[in-house]
Amino acid sequence: MSKIKKLAVLTSGGDAPGMNAAIRAVVRKALSENIKTYGVLRGYEGLIKGDFIPMNSKSVSYILQLGGTILKTSRSEEFKTTEGRKKAYENLKEKGIDALVVIGGDGTFKGARKFNEEYDLPIVGLPGTIDNDLFGTDMTIGFDTALNTAVEAIDKIRDTAASHERVFFVEVMGRDAGFIALRVGIASGAEAVLVPEVPTDIEAFHNHLLENMHRKKTSSIIIVAEGDDAGGAFEIKKSLEKFGDEFDMKVTVLGHIQRGGSPSAYDRYLASRLGVAAIDALLDDQRSVMIGMINRQIAYVPFTQTIKHHKTIDQTLLDLVDVLNT
Ligand code: F6P
Repeated sequence: MSKIKKLAVLTSGGDAPGMNAAIRAVVRKALSENIKTYGVLRGYEGLIKGDFIPMNSKSVSYILQLGGTILKTSRSEEFKTTEGRKKAYENLKEKGIDALVVIGGDGTFKGARKFNEEYDLPIVGLPGTIDNDLFGTDMTIGFDTALNTAVEAIDKIRDTAASHERVFFVEVMGRDAGFIALRVGIASGAEAVLVPEVPTDIEAFHNHLLENMHRKKTSSIIIVAEGDDAGGAFEIKKSLEKFGDEFDMKVTVLGHIQRGGSPSAYDRYLASRLGVAAIDALLDDQRSVMIGMINRQIAYVPFTQTIKHHKTIDQTLLDLVDVLNT
């Protein structure tokens, strides 16, 4: 018999397509193990306020294909305080909750680790962020959908860029990481990709554009990750205008459309596998671990590891952008 009788699940940080599929998998797998599940509203905020809703099989029907998160989400400042975490623990105890599943990114796991240092409660995490910047999993839930959304939009931009012979700077999400920018750049045939992990030299980049023009390229798509050190797409365009060339330059910021929409088949699959694995992990007495997928195998990665290590950008993929532009 399982030691866990009551479980809570929450989503926290930036929402990501596939979070609902993960909630559904957690609830249904828990049910199959006779574990009662509560949904916590608005992430750690809901833990502090005691916003728990009982969940059953019906509460998660027809959500697999929905973007966003039915449990809502937040970035809780109060959970960073000792008092906030104390209130959260008291609410969990009052409900008789034995374990917690948190779905989110780096900030979510930092909160969970701190909570686990202070209180004795098994917690496992699921990687839910469009940024794919978590160490310990090949892909995060939401990344694939965000890529598809961005590529679909860029294909449309490409049509008008080619027709008007323009240089388009397309800004994609990624405050600290260039994983979206890099994959999107390759998948949309971008002429260049600028990421936060590699310093951007405006002069060198300007030369690159000139070179393209000499090669009679009449239009270009440049993907800029929002966290690039030279600034976002608007700043980069401004810096290039100083050279006084004839390029007709435009900017499109894709923004939050990358966070929404129906999850791709891959995100639904990943979320479902990881959601089930989260319950297996708890039943296996795991705690303070993120459930990742590495080389198509489920992996348990301690929160300490996923917080400490940074996933690195693959230089060979950056080089590939240039090769594919030859
Ligand atoms: O963490 C995901 C992410 O989409 C980042 O790429 C982005 O910088 C950030 O969230 C923006 O979040 P928000 O607008 O919700 O503050």
